[in-house]
Amino acid sequence: MSKAAITGVHGYVPDYVLTNAELERMVDTNDEWITSRTGIKERHILKGEGMGSSHMGAKAVAGLLEKVNTKPEDVDLLICATTTPDFVFPCTANLICDMVGIRNVGSFDIQAACSGFLYAITVGSQFIETGKYKKVVIVGADKMSAITDYTDRTTCVLFGDGAGAVMLEPNTEGLGILDSIIKSDGVGQNHLFQKAGGSRYPPTHETVEKRWHYVYQDGPSVFKFAVKNMADVSAEIMERNQLSGGDVAWLVPHQANKRIIDATAHRMGIQTDKVMMNIHKYGNTTAATIPLCLFDYESQLKKGDNLVLAAFGGGFTWGAAYVKWAY
Ligand code: UT7
Repeated sequence: MSKAAITGVHGYVPDYVLTNAELERMVDTNDEWITSRTGIKERHILKGEGMGSSHMGAKAVAGLLEKVNTKPEDVDLLICATTTPDFVFPCTANLICDMVGIRNVGSFDIQAACSGFLYAITVGSQFIETGKYKKVVIVGADKMSAITDYTDRTTCVLFGDGAGAVMLEPNTEGLGILDSIIKSDGVGQNHLFQKAGGSRYPPTHETVEKRWHYVYQDGPSVFKFAVKNMADVSAEIMERNQLSGGDVAWLVPHQANKRIIDATAHRMGIQTDKVMMNIHKYGNTTAATIPLCLFDYESQLKKGDNLVLAAFGGGFTWGAAYVKWAY
């Protein structure tokens, strides 16, 4: 049976850079606190009227198609992981397809917060493994600045905007997404969420006044769950694939907090120089963190490298994937 291999990756972040120095002028915070508690130095923000996550997703997908020399009409399916869709409906995947000229094929969104990309490659790879499709595009795109309260110092320093996309194609050489685990637990629903804007609390003057359209996070609770679950699921995927720390060429972790990443790497027995890290440049871009890591580190990857992808996010949702790099 074929496995689904990642045959190309592309990323996009908007031009505007929001630095810790600028945040110091907006809220009561400082570079030392942000850097030591999170590892973040700056993040990119999408400015401009009428532009949503689809704008960045389309840039990532257009760049990907060019790179892997694939025409839009040859794509069989596009899945977009996002927590900040342009609209409640239609889905952002539809919009991205339209922007890049992909027509008459299936496209849909996956909402699994910061684990969205991991969920999306898990779902997308099934279509390749069954032989149904040959070219599946997975894109993670989030405009977190749209739901970030820039008067709340506990959250506004954390998030940034960006998108990353990969192409999945069949591989019979034993390369690709060899295993994945996805998990969720509703115990997290009140610890990290956007309260209003959905069907339970549709927008009203009151929801706006109460600032319910922004991300709410109980940071320390989420931190505890994230450290434990991201490390546990990474250890689980290593164990069931008989991998030791020395076998793993790269850990590709969701970029929410450098301290969570360090704890996961430590538990897996992986040295710091084998951990992909770009949180200092982009902050937490939710579904885009993992493909943006792959994009930034692409030139250092070698065919056959063992990668462990790991994520944790709102819900709670979390998971890990074992990928043998295919090019
Ligand atoms: O990606 C999805 C999943 N999300 C995560 O994995 C995020 C998990 N959580 C975290 O990464 C961390 O909890 C945070 C980075 C959000 C916060 O770090 P922390 O070490 O847990 O800090 P804390 O919330 O316990 O706050 C410590 C202190 C508090 O002051 P007091 O009560 O001790 O006086 C906060 O008010 O730091 C204060 N504080 C700040 N100070 C300066 C909180 N935010 C800031 C800030 N600047 N931006």
